[in-house]
Amino acid sequence: MIAAATTATGLLVQSGLRTLAKLITTILVAAAAPGCSGVQSALAPSGRDADRIATLFWWMTGASALVWLFVIALAVYYARRPERGRNPRRDRALILGGGVAFPTVVITVLLVYGLAMIPETVARAPEGSLRVAVTGEQWWWRVKYFRPGGEEVVLANEIRLPVGEPTEFRLDSDNVIHAFWIPPLAGKMDMIPGRITYLTVRPTRTGIFRGACAEYCGTSHALMAFFVEVMEKDAFDRWLAHQATPAVPASDPLARRGADLFLSSGCGACHTVRGTPTPGQIGPDLTHVGGRLSLGAGILENRPDQFRAWLASTTHIKPGVHMPAFGMLLDPDLQALAAYLHALK
Ligand code: CUA
Repeated sequence: MIAAATTATGLLVQSGLRTLAKLITTILVAAAAPGCSGVQSALAPSGRDADRIATLFWWMTGASALVWLFVIALAVYYARRPERGRNPRRDRALILGGGVAFPTVVITVLLVYGLAMIPETVARAPEGSLRVAVTGEQWWWRVKYFRPGGEEVVLANEIRLPVGEPTEFRLDSDNVIHAFWIPPLAGKMDMIPGRITYLTVRPTRTGIFRGACAEYCGTSHALMAFFVEVMEKDAFDRWLAHQATPAVPASDPLARRGADLFLSSGCGACHTVRGTPTPGQIGPDLTHVGGRLSLGAGILENRPDQFRAWLASTTHIKPGVHMPAFGMLLDPDLQALAAYLHALK
């Protein structure tokens, strides 16, 4: 009986040590992987709230590792302890102390530490802060900036923010639940149909970051991303002022032909290019699409050949997308359209 129990404990210890080895390997691989050091890592914080969340993560990970090591050490000690040293009263005290009191204290401390962060993390931005409305679409982001004078500037799939200042996002959706998440800058927030949620972001350094949808929302959920550029305040103001202007008419002949095709092919039924007779509201605003950091909601580079590929095979690149593929257009027409869109800086 005792021999069987000792063998079982030995197996438990072995399996525990294997789990530890796997955990350490996973943490090392994750830390070395591009995803954890690059533009979309919650462990490389560049915003106030992301910084707090990362600190909480490390405290939780550290505390869990210590508790785990302590428990495994006790298991090893008792598995190898000679029979004559046993003392039932001390064993009971150890079980109550180590199995009830110790975890209760550790979990309570971590819980209080985590809960204490919530009020500031969910607080609304101060009066006068920059406000941006983002609507989750399948599978892209409708973005609307509110300028200080009250003017609205509509764009899509791209966000730029001034460094060192709070920006309040007003989030919603009219289709399914999405979640707005820029891991290096802040926590995530659900975008729920029929409800408005708020998220305040306070970037602490300039740079380009990648955000993503963090709630499964259909076929192309994994292809619903965006880039965020955190800029100095002056550069940001210039950028936003430019976004508010209508599109500059195409100058080179290829792009001009593309502009004509854009109108004659009916693109304006779904898209708006401000300054042209295109009233479409269903798809992304394209007024300055050529100046964005990506195409197709964070999945393609902003290059003429990528525009062409997107136009010809939207449904292949982003399965389930509402925009039909325009593969029926001849290649020179696709190139003209791509040149026009790429020139919309
Ligand atoms: Cu939108 Cu997942």
